[in-house]
Amino acid sequence: MSKKLFIQTIGCAMNVRDSEHIIAELGQKEDFELIDRYEDADLILINTCSVREKPVQKLFSEIGQFNKKKKAGAKLGVCGCTASHLGEEIIKRAPYVDFVLGARNVSKITDVIHKKGAVEVDIDFDESSYVFSDFRNSPYKAFINISIGCDKQCTFCIVPSTRGEEISIPAELIVNEAKKAAKNGAKEIFLLGQNVNNYGKRFSDSGKNIDFPDLLEMISEIKEIQRIRFTSPHPLHMDDRFLKVFASNEKICKSMHMPLQSGSTKILKEMKRGYTKEWFLDRAQKLRQSVRGVHISTDIIVAFPGESEEDFAQTMDVVEKVKFEQIFSFKYSPRPLTKAALMEQVDPQVASRRLKTLQDRQNEILDEISSKQKGKIYEVYFDELKSGGKIVGRSDNNFMVEVVGSEELLGKIVPVKIVEPKRMVLYGEVVKQTA
Ligand code: 5AD
Ligand code: SF4
Repeated sequence: MSKKLFIQTIGCAMNVRDSEHIIAELGQKEDFELIDRYEDADLILINTCSVREKPVQKLFSEIGQFNKKKKAGAKLGVCGCTASHLGEEIIKRAPYVDFVLGARNVSKITDVIHKKGAVEVDIDFDESSYVFSDFRNSPYKAFINISIGCDKQCTFCIVPSTRGEEISIPAELIVNEAKKAAKNGAKEIFLLGQNVNNYGKRFSDSGKNIDFPDLLEMISEIKEIQRIRFTSPHPLHMDDRFLKVFASNEKICKSMHMPLQSGSTKILKEMKRGYTKEWFLDRAQKLRQSVRGVHISTDIIVAFPGESEEDFAQTMDVVEKVKFEQIFSFKYSPRPLTKAALMEQVDPQVASRRLKTLQDRQNEILDEISSKQKGKIYEVYFDELKSGGKIVGRSDNNFMVEVVGSEELLGKIVPVKIVEPKRMVLYGEVVKQTA
């Protein structure tokens, strides 16, 4: 009889993909079956995020709960970014934890489950050429890693300390994975990396000369693949060649994530982002001009150390000028091992007020954007059934669209007319096609 695995995943798409890799390795090499009740599991894993403080605080209460209610003899492991940064401190604070596995050591999962007290958090470990076993949460969309780690030194960010230096995964491996996913029914490929448009700067074996636009073109040649998405690109590396391939290759979805972080050139310098407000605006404007209907999303941090009212006004100015289709906004959260944690912090009340100002204005902008969608027709790739006979999918330019419908729409790309646009979801009707 197979053993039972429960895994809880927190954090970004990279973490979601790491969990898929863990499930695949344990399923195919150790005969584990995935379940969704931790009380019945033989192995409980929590795959953690440490980009902000909240999920780290929650970790210890969560594992305490797992420990209290787990089956007798069940093992408990902490994986991911918090595992990387806290390492053996986790076992010191919670001695019932059986092992700790860092975000850059995922391929060692089949070893650590047999070693009580194992702490594998080496951030120099190179698993860029490791071929993981196969598992995907959804057959319709395939996440594929194109690099590990991150070479940037943004002063707010803990990721370089949890995922190590950046290494690109060989293009043949990526293309093979994409072909395999396509054969299993995925029409959409989602390429993942901390800094995707820096792809190709360093491979662990030398001699390649492939950059991100090349990789996009290679993947678009796979016939069954109809949509390519990626996250996250870095604004600094958005050169004209990249934007040209993005604009002209029809398989690349017209949705770009451009993490702004701050609109103040002074703060961007303090963050070590490598670009100015003007460069960001220039790239966003070029995108809007060259790609009709493009969807631009962003990440913004308010109240980074030293952010003045004027700096924050600069951020709001970019928000006004670009009119992002989506903003992920955060209050700055001081992280261990980062430079900004040592700088002079902004008053928490000021931070809360700025976050609210940003989010309130963005909601108004979103209402404007969504109201303009009424009557438009989008090609929607349906990938998720909802209760009550509803089904949802994404338009090419990343709007979430919901219609009345059932299984027969799953995995299909279908034209939909928007009848009732809302801030987060556009409600529509499938356009009847004449044969
Ligand atoms: N505080 C707040 N937000 C952060 N992010 C990264 N580090 C921090 C931090 N210390 C945000 C950035 C990044 C997103 C994934 O998380 O906006 O793009
Ligand atoms: Fe992802 Fe960063 Fe969180 Fe790690 S710390 S899971 S890389 S968002």
